[in-house]
This record gives sequence, structure tokens and C-alpha cells, in this order.
Amino acid sequence: MKKVLSSLGPVSAVIGAQWGDEGKGKIVDILAEHFDVIARATGGANAGHTIIVEGKKHVFHLLPSGSLHKGKEVVIGSGVVMHLPTLLEEIEILRAHDADFLARLRISTEAHVVLDAHKEIDGALEESRSKRIGTTKRGIGPAYMDKAMRTGIRMGDLAGDIGSLLREKSAAIKRMYGVEMNPAEEEKRLRDAMDIVGACVTDTVGLLHDALEAKKTILIEGAQGTLLDLDHGTYPYVTSSSTTTAGALQGLGIPPRALTSAIGVAKAYCTRVGEGDFPTEAQGEASQRLRERGGEYGATTGRPRRTGWLHMGDLRRAARLNGFTHWNITKLDVLDAEDEIPFAAADASDGAALARMPGWKSSTVGLQSYDELPKNARGLIERVEKETGVPVSFIGTGPERQQMITRLS
Ligand code: IMP
Repeated sequence: MKKVLSSLGPVSAVIGAQWGDEGKGKIVDILAEHFDVIARATGGANAGHTIIVEGKKHVFHLLPSGSLHKGKEVVIGSGVVMHLPTLLEEIEILRAHDADFLARLRISTEAHVVLDAHKEIDGALEESRSKRIGTTKRGIGPAYMDKAMRTGIRMGDLAGDIGSLLREKSAAIKRMYGVEMNPAEEEKRLRDAMDIVGACVTDTVGLLHDALEAKKTILIEGAQGTLLDLDHGTYPYVTSSSTTTAGALQGLGIPPRALTSAIGVAKAYCTRVGEGDFPTEAQGEASQRLRERGGEYGATTGRPRRTGWLHMGDLRRAARLNGFTHWNITKLDVLDAEDEIPFAAADASDGAALARMPGWKSSTVGLQSYDELPKNARGLIERVEKETGVPVSFIGTGPERQQMITRLS
């Protein structure tokens, strides 16, 4: 992995190309050791990545997956929406592994706060919709609604008197959504949290620019995926933030010209949680097989994920939208037992039957060299490269850290 920084450059973003859950956490974990700062830019506790701390599995929602790396600065940027009780739970777990974790955590004064009431509103809005979105009910949409209405509460506000702000909000929420909010309890939760993380709240935009000037390296950890992007995704079945490279840069206040690479992460097949169109969705036994082999159950909600096949057109669009310079194709081994692998070709018209390529019917688990891959598995990888014009530099061959093929030039 000596070539990592020479290939990626000092400011790199890891961005989901599908509907989230592409397995971004593993590549971030592998790359994090090469970077000085790990930064999360958008979204909130709707994300979920499984982290192993001291041999025990935990699911983190707010802290970046790179947080485990001792000595790295961890930044939660302005575009993130923060549910502080969730953050505190995660910090508690991490402090058992690294007592000094808080000394390296920085949270933007501009990040908006997710109240418990936002979660209630999320649930109430879902119930009232004729077409449900299938949100994670983590209050993400309502918190971004408050932000866009310019009535949100930001991390920087929490140092002041928030009692009157919360009482005002409680009355407005009751009026607009019929949701009861207890301002005294919300205030207590926020104050308790600030006692612990207050010293971490700072101007992260200034901090990141100081880091850039000091020639520090920054790894940007995207959340969710391109097809869930508020502007460019499968609206209205999307999340409420910008999940693309541009959204991540905006969320952190890093200018586009500072970025040196963008790694698109896509599974070798496809999954989706929640409602919405899924043109390559598998049916029946094939769908169940992918779900079981890939362990496809939501990390945040536990919902069984819908499963299906690669959509080359979506990958090409994601590569264009995000300016991908590298691909990480994850979970290739999940396809090991397939006779044939269906996929949507990039130039296929809507509703056309899926194309098929032959499977390889042998284990790729744990392979680390491209040449060891069966010919048909290489065929799939090379098809992605041909359809998108972006090299596949990382290929996941199992859940463990070392189960990865790296091809960096
Ligand atoms: P929300 O972000 O909770 O409002 O949910 C909106 C849609 O995005 C739903 O379909 C969710 O299942 C989906 N979603 C949000 N975050 C993630 C994620 O991290 N992985 C996968 N799907 C997500």
C-alpha cells in the first residue's frame, strides 16, 4: 500500500455510488492510516457502519469509521446533522479503546442539531404519506427541513441560552405537526451532551484550511450513496442531503480544487433499503441468496435489504456526477456461486431485459492479487472499467481488512 498517497493525493473522498451500504467503512479503515485527518461531511445517524472495538462488534452512526485510528484527527463537518445522545453512546464505546479520543474529535459549530422531536416528526410524516419513503426514522429529513427553513439549532448555539429557543420550537412543532415535544427534557439532553463534547465544538472550516496549508492529508468519508442524493438521486425516495463528492466538499467547506481523488464505492451487485424504483432488483430465490451470502440486513434499522444486480448505467452516471478517479468494487466473493450474473448494460433502454455474463463458480474469498481472480470475475471488473472509464483500484474479496485486491499505479 506504499502507493496510496502517490495515487490518491493529499485530499481524497470516499463516496457511495449506489443506495448506500456499499461497504465504504472497510476502504476508509484501510486508507485512514495514510491520512492525518478523517472527516465526515453530511447526513446523520441514518448511516450505519459496523466497527469492531476490542473484538466486539458495534454499529456506529455518527462517528466516521476512521475514528478507531489512534492519533488521527476526526472532524464532523458543518453539513452533518447531529443527534447528540447517539454521539455520546458512540464516544463511550470508543473511549474504552482510546481514553484520549475526545482530544482528537472536532465538531463544527455550524452542524445542525437533531432533537428527539425531529425523530417523532419523521415517524409522523411517514405515517401520513400515501407513498412512504421508508426513512430510517432518525429525524434526518425534519432536521434538514428546520435548517432550510432557517429555524434550526446549530452546535454553536448550544453554548448559549437554548431554553427559550426550545420552548419556541416546541410550540411551532405542536402547531405544524401535532407532535408533543418536552423542551425541558430536550434541553437537559443537550446540556448533558455539551458537558462532554462542548470542548470539541469549533470552527472546523478554519481547522481544515489550516490543515491544508500545513500540507496535512485529509480523507473525506462520504455517507449514504449517489442514488440517494437529494438533487441527483431517485427523488422522492432519497435522503435529505447531498451525498455526492460536491455535497461532501460543501458539507466540509473544502473548495473543489483542493480535492485530489474521489473513490467510488459500489458493491459487485446492488442493494436498497426503503422504497423506490430498483430496475435490476432480483426476485425470489436469487434475491434471498444474495441477501444471505452478503449479510444484507440494514445496519441502522435491521431491515432486510432489497437485493439485485449491477446497473452499469447508474455506475457511469455516478462516476460522472462525482468525478471518480478510482473504483472500489466491494463484496465480489458474494457472487462466487452464481451460474450467470445478470446486469443492466450502460446503454440498455429502460425496461429492457437484463444482460448476462457467465459466473466463475469458484471461491474468490481472501484473494489479494488480481491475477488470481478467475477469468470471468476479471470480466466483470473490466466491464465496469469499460462502461465507466474509471479504473477499479480496489476489489473486496471478504469482510476482513486484508481480504482486498489493490491495483494502484
Ligand atoms: P432518511 O435518510 O432516514 O430520511 O431515509 C431516506 C431514504 O434513504 C430511505 O430509503 C433510507 O432507507 C435511505 N437511507 C438513508 N441513509 C441510508 C444509509 O446510510 N444506507 C442506506 N440507505 C439509507
